[in-house]
Amino acid sequence: MRVLITGGAKELGRAFSEAIGAQGHQLVITGRDEIALRTAETELRAKGVDVEAHVADLGDPGATPKLVESLGGIDVLVNNGALGGPVGPTWQVDENEWWRTFEVNLRGTAFAANAAIRTMTSGRIINVVSNAGVHRWPYVTAYSVSKAAVIKLTENLAIELRRRPIAVLSYDPGMVDAGLMSRGCDLETDDPHLRRIAQWARSQRDGGRFTPVEQSAALLARIVSGEFDHRSGGLITQEDG
Ligand SMILES: NC(=O)c1ccc[n+]([C@@H]2O[C@H](COP(=O)([O-])OP(=O)(O)OC[C@H]3O[C@@H](n4cnc5c(N)ncnc54)[C@H](OP(=O)(O)O)[C@@H]3O)[C@@H](O)[C@H]2O)c1
Repeated sequence: MRVLITGGAKELGRAFSEAIGAQGHQLVITGRDEIALRTAETELRAKGVDVEAHVADLGDPGATPKLVESLGGIDVLVNNGALGGPVGPTWQVDENEWWRTFEVNLRGTAFAANAAIRTMTSGRIINVVSNAGVHRWPYVTAYSVSKAAVIKLTENLAIELRRRPIAVLSYDPGMVDAGLMSRGCDLETDDPHLRRIAQWARSQRDGGRFTPVEQSAALLARIVSGEFDHRSGGLITQEDG
């Protein structure tokens, strides 16, 4: 199968790429950071993965759809790329930064999915979400609300596609010691809201509530293989692993 994963060069996305590549799938990885993309491409190829990397900014509404169309079809889209967004009281954070988070996390995800569905005969769309989209996450509202919207988008698309062999699933990878949560744990700052997030992240890690990255990536690889297609529209969490 040909699998496109947005944000596939770095952090959790990189772990997803490794796990999907290890299953023998053909990989297409995207992101904004060309150096990270080339490095990941080289390292994955050295492990025998059939991979190509492309710069595609999810903030540019046409970029990922254009890539999907130029590939002439994919079997699986993993919408992993996202922004953590601004932190602070919603009425005080930079509103442009707040809105930019929706452009990447919601519009970027939706338009990539639309392009994939238009070119796909069968397969699946996997939207990487977060517990923050299920439960409230005050002071991080752009992230929380954009992920909630993606969960709802998944549910609606699954119904619209119920007569076609295309599944749409949300995947909560759990809190992992990579990317957003890892940076959260390492954060040293005087900002009271960021400091609260950092303390909370460390308490989750130290309390053993993190999911091992390999475990999270292994479950994603099972979703990619089609094992959860019968749950189309639903949210797959670590409990399902
Ligand atoms: N880490 C966790 O514990 C955790 C928990 C729950 C959910 N998640 C979800 O897992 C996914 C990955 O998170 P992460 O922790 O690995 O985050 P991260 O370290 O911030 O990485 C984000 C990824 O998205 C890409 N990206 C960001 N903006 C982009 C844009 N405008 N266009 C294209 N790509 C873009 C980045 O690549 P470039 O910089 O190259 O653009 C990078 O590969 C996200 O959807 C996140 O919500 C993570």
